Amino acid sequence: MDKLTLKASGPLSGKIPIAGAKNSALKLMAAAILTDQEVVLNNLPNLADTRFMARLLDSLGIETYWPASSSTLRMRSAELTSTIAPYDLVRKMRATFNVLGPLLARVGHATVSVPGGCAIGARPVDLHLKAFEAMGADIVIEEGYVKAAALRGLHGADITFPFPSVGATEHAMMGAVLARGHTRLQNAACEPEIADIANFLNSLGAKITGAGTSCIEIEGVSSLGGGEYATMGDRIEAGTFMIAVAATGGDVTFAGANLGHLDALAAALRDAGVKVEGVEGGVRVSRSGSGLKPVDIDTRPYPGFPTDLQAQFMALMTIADGVSTIRENIFENRFLHAPELNRLGANISIRGSEAIVHGVGRLKGAPVMATDLRASVSLVIAGLVAEGQTTINRVYHLDRGFENLEAKLNACGAQIERSADSD
Ligand code: UD1
Repeated sequence: MDKLTLKASGPLSGKIPIAGAKNSALKLMAAAILTDQEVVLNNLPNLADTRFMARLLDSLGIETYWPASSSTLRMRSAELTSTIAPYDLVRKMRATFNVLGPLLARVGHATVSVPGGCAIGARPVDLHLKAFEAMGADIVIEEGYVKAAALRGLHGADITFPFPSVGATEHAMMGAVLARGHTRLQNAACEPEIADIANFLNSLGAKITGAGTSCIEIEGVSSLGGGEYATMGDRIEAGTFMIAVAATGGDVTFAGANLGHLDALAAALRDAGVKVEGVEGGVRVSRSGSGLKPVDIDTRPYPGFPTDLQAQFMALMTIADGVSTIRENIFENRFLHAPELNRLGANISIRGSEAIVHGVGRLKGAPVMATDLRASVSLVIAGLVAEGQTTINRVYHLDRGFENLEAKLNACGAQIERSADSD
């Protein structure tokens, strides 16, 4: 297992290219199961998670062609040889659960392991399953597997989510594309990735309107064609690097970032005294001289402050001039980074779903442990500004979601080294 060693960097400056969005890419790959024609996905991020999804598709009999380090995947699911996603695959990456809906819609049955809990909470899939039941699927859970069948196909339904779940919205939308009749999803999640998936499916011949709003309408079609599509830029990768520059100071342009997807973060950074502006083809972030003001944040479904940037923003607030409060409303156990940040000299106390962050003058380097994807990268941000040397162990979490992280930051002046962890 690799570890990262960081030395305090000065202000970062330069240009960082933003990769395709992991959370969209994984679902685009699953959605492509809906067609038997060839699909070409461009701007796919090369990550442990997307490579893992490609392995699952292979195991279902889907032909995939994705050369190492290429960002283009060609896939064709002319004939599926399996409709089973086993425990071992789903356990390693929850998003593999999202093959259930496309398999069910395309061939009328699927057997997919129930995803377990994860480091950030229980994360049930009840809303996904209720949506498919409303579309006519018979679902039983046996021996840890969801066994779903709709032998005469799915039918359209009116579904109102009690909570705007991103995964359930995307999953139900994929299933409804090939269902008989009309589906309306209300109180749907509005994340930009959902609009990206809908745009992709529409480019193959689906009839989806309203994706990206809280009401999505889908008119079922009997089949989809093939096509070529480019994944949207990763707003979480962009937001992470924007926070890193806010922490170190400097001036960096993020090519391929979309400021329109990052309103809540941009507002919080501006309140902290950071300059954020849209430039042609990207976003520019700069901070010079002055200190950081404390800013309170509250994670919310889109367009609110993203839970996937909460850990990174907390790292930033550890060096602000004053006290800030960070409230996590989406996941029950998403403060695992706080004790690790405290090991670096931060002063964070947790009260239920609230973290109180007392800004300290300086963090100090120490060995720390990565616990989940976003928590790991918050430690990278802290390590960039901590005096001395910080070692982050178990960085495989980072590789699940960030492409060339150290190369991108080092090109702007960071000093991050990767080595094999001998422990
Ligand atoms: C997706 C993202 C993740 C992000 C999250 C919220 C992917 C691969 N992951 O996760 O990075 O942090 O959106 O923006 O796209 N819930 C239920 N029942 C369900 C489904 C969800 O109770 O059937 C709860 C979850 O436990 C959680 C909350 O709803 O507390 C939000 O989950 P959801 O929006 O579904 O997130 P994911 O799709 O899992």
